[in-house]
Amino acid sequence: MTTQSTGPDPDHVFPDHVPPELVRDFSYWTSPGMERTPGGDPQAALSRLLAGAPPVFYAPSATYDGRGAWVVTRAEDQRTILQNAETFSSNRFIFKAALGEDLPMIPLEIDPPDHQMYRALLNPLLSPRRVDELEARARSRAVGLIESFRDRGGCEVMNDFAFPFAVGVFLQFLGLSDDRRDEFLGWADQQFHGNLEERRGAMRTVVDFMRGLIEERKRAPTDDFVSFLLGAKVQDRALNDREVLGIAVLLFEAGLDTVAAAIGFDLNHLALHRDDQRRLREDPELIKPAVEELFRAYSTISPVRRAVRDFELGGLTIKAGDYVSCPTMLANRDPQEFPDPERIDLARESNRHTAFAYGPHRCLGSHLARRELIIGLQEFLARIPTFRIREGTAPITYGGYVFGIEDLQLAWDPDAAADPAEDAR
Ligand code: HEM
Repeated sequence: MTTQSTGPDPDHVFPDHVPPELVRDFSYWTSPGMERTPGGDPQAALSRLLAGAPPVFYAPSATYDGRGAWVVTRAEDQRTILQNAETFSSNRFIFKAALGEDLPMIPLEIDPPDHQMYRALLNPLLSPRRVDELEARARSRAVGLIESFRDRGGCEVMNDFAFPFAVGVFLQFLGLSDDRRDEFLGWADQQFHGNLEERRGAMRTVVDFMRGLIEERKRAPTDDFVSFLLGAKVQDRALNDREVLGIAVLLFEAGLDTVAAAIGFDLNHLALHRDDQRRLREDPELIKPAVEELFRAYSTISPVRRAVRDFELGGLTIKAGDYVSCPTMLANRDPQEFPDPERIDLARESNRHTAFAYGPHRCLGSHLARRELIIGLQEFLARIPTFRIREGTAPITYGGYVFGIEDLQLAWDPDAAADPAEDAR
């Protein structure tokens, strides 16, 4: 590592092998549009911000702990990286870094070949058939929540709907009772939106909770998820406690904030684009393709990998030890993959978006996530009249590894016709 300067910020350092002309001052947290912004659109902001950047560039402070990373902007290059798990490891040990706890998040932080045995174990639990079994209760959860605020003339989407819905479905998936919902909601809130100390505290609480649950289920097994893991075998041996814990904690991390954020971005879009809202009301069949288009347009995650050997990509060398990040929201606006990518077309065809990433770590919960989004939009649109952003408010959007939105205040506007002038805002 040298101390070459990158221009505007003399503190930025980057490794010797990085050509200076490929260095850009970029962070998922602090670059324009990535900070907490009232009424922002971080996906569009990122696309604008990096429009003239080289296809692959080096950002000395791209990661949350200020470490540098290559940022890969094109879909094809992201595929190359994410499909090559032998070279690009996902063994990052988030918990080790954050909590000093040697706990891999399974299967996300496990590389091949071991990764495959965990995938094989977990696949049936999140298969389309399993999701079908969860559907009826998930739907009645959505209906119950929406009915609880329908007569109020408005709601704050994230706290009134998106988080309680995602947390409720997760508890159902784990086989835990709803009594714990508020407790889980509090942890999710602190973990995903608190300051650094609160985040660590909440992560610790989740780990401790799961540890306790594992002990309980060892004493008295039920038919729930943890009992399943405790009885499961990989390669003819039982999972050990560390593995059971790593899986249970990852599912909490992977399935809550992501689903809630997607619901938030989708309803924000519909509040701002009433023509799209009207189209979905008039043609509910369009909700399924619309959910895919909204996943494309508002994808939230930027997978990170660490190279374990040197690799040539488009004429440059990524060295062993380098971090590489693949913002899905940029791949999803790559004009070589999607005609007119900045246009949001709810009926877009051949929509092979990458919101769930590529390769062996492709989202295991994508069937469940999709179903939650479809149910959420179907029930919201069926029960709530035309809605808009409540006057005098603006939702706060933010960047990071998982883009998000909070304080999304909606007001019902039953008499409103779709207003093209407003849609153009
Ligand atoms: C809108 C919602 C969701 C989005 C956008 C999303 C996106 C992603 C992405 C991009 C990855 C790959 C990360 C990487 O390669 O570094 C991933 C992995 C994963 N997701 Fe999701 N996810 C969502 C919901 C869920 C849900 C509901 C669950 C389960 C309850 C889930 C479980 C997982 C698991 C287990 C992995 C790791 C897979 C592996 O390493 O093999 N996700 N997700």
